[in-house]
Amino acid sequence: MKADVLLGLQWGDEGKGKVVDVLTPSYDMICRFQGGPNAGHTLEFNGIKHVLHTIPSGIFHSHCKNVIGNGVVIDPVILKKEIDALIKMGVDVKKQLLVSKRAHLILPTHRLLDAASEASKGKEKIGSTLKGIGPTYMDKTGRNGIRVGDITLGNFKERYTALVEKHKQLLAFHQYEYNLSELEPVWFEAIEVLKQLTLIDSEYYVNEALKSGKKILAEGAQGSMLDIDFGTYPFVTSSNTMTAGCCTGLGIPPGSVGNVIGIFKAYCTRVGSGPFPTELNDATGETMRKIGNEFGSTTGRARRCGWLDLPALKYAIMINGVTELTMMKADVMDDFDTIKVCTHYLINDKETEVLPFDVINTTITPVYKQIKGWKQNITSAKNLPEELLNFISFIEQSTGVPISIVSVGPDRKQTIIMKKQTVS
Ligand code: GDP
Ligand code: IMO
Ligand code: MG
Repeated sequence: MKADVLLGLQWGDEGKGKVVDVLTPSYDMICRFQGGPNAGHTLEFNGIKHVLHTIPSGIFHSHCKNVIGNGVVIDPVILKKEIDALIKMGVDVKKQLLVSKRAHLILPTHRLLDAASEASKGKEKIGSTLKGIGPTYMDKTGRNGIRVGDITLGNFKERYTALVEKHKQLLAFHQYEYNLSELEPVWFEAIEVLKQLTLIDSEYYVNEALKSGKKILAEGAQGSMLDIDFGTYPFVTSSNTMTAGCCTGLGIPPGSVGNVIGIFKAYCTRVGSGPFPTELNDATGETMRKIGNEFGSTTGRARRCGWLDLPALKYAIMINGVTELTMMKADVMDDFDTIKVCTHYLINDKETEVLPFDVINTTITPVYKQIKGWKQNITSAKNLPEELLNFISFIEQSTGVPISIVSVGPDRKQTIIMKKQTVS
């Protein structure tokens, strides 16, 4: 068997949580492979809205195992809160959730370092979610990190203390004031909860599952334009958000990757700093934010809004090997007379579809195609209006990739299957 991958093609918040939940009935296992509680994946069903940060979005389906892979960074305090909320909703978390021993832990001091680093950058700040993601991945690649499996070892406390001492020196360098005494007891309490979960060698677990014919969907966090290598560096997150991330973040061999489902919104959003060629700092952008309720699921920050950016979308499709697309939030465009799509960039008076290396300092002027809007409420539509079908065909033709799902509202049920999604 091969594992399918589902990931965001823009700057995150495309609606990954919703679609994973919709697709979970076709899978035995949903596995997160990177990122951490910087993610906020929203699911809505039976009038309930739920936001997941670390736990995979298949958790509401009792048949499904949910794996937090080795590529994820875990804040035990946030994980505990998520678990408590799920237990209240009747989810058998202990049975359904498995955590890789190789996943790295976010310490309270990682969060402090994130805040200190952002404060020191002033106007140049990344706009991090301040969940300690960057500092934790730095310790991972710097070979100083503490992994989930370490919590069961005899020298865990010593390792923790040694790492915190290093962090204290860095915090002193930043002249950052903090009070660790309140944060540590809560963190250690949450470590006890983590100890009760099933801790696994996820690379064996996942590969054995594939061998025995189980269907796996790997769930990405963030989006391709926030990828540490291919995003709008340095305004990115600290992990590989792309298909390759599922190989390193779960131990899935590249040849065992099946379908790659790329998710995008009918427009674009970005939260935090960094380049955004099609951003609208005007009433139209404000309308998108209002209708799309574009406020962060993790931080509550207003998301920046703009038109769909095809060069960026094609770039994301290229680096991920996307085999099918899912278009989200089509309903947000319901009231627009005209919908614009950026087909090219104008850089130094030349039309191009290529994202420049120095995307930060290059002036990019988007070239737009105007598409007629459908001007009707599609939130409970079963068939899509002709103008929307034209919009869909235009994107399919431009990208060369079929759109298999169109989402017309936040609820599970507000999902239109265009072509039956192929399960590997
Ligand atoms: P994720 O991080 O990719 O899982 O996305 P988020 O959950 O952060 O943000 C997506 C937001 O859009 C959430 O509030 C969803 O409930 C909502 N949403 C998802 N799909 C649709 C849709 O088709 N239409 C509308 N109006 N909202 C949607
Ligand atoms: P989901 O999975 C949108 C953004 C932050 C910031 C940058 C770096 O819900 O799509 P970090 O905390 O990683 O150091 O922040 O990345 N960011 C996200 N934006 N959705 C997310 O996750 C994000 N996770 C991080 O706003 O600009
Ligand atoms: Mg989100």
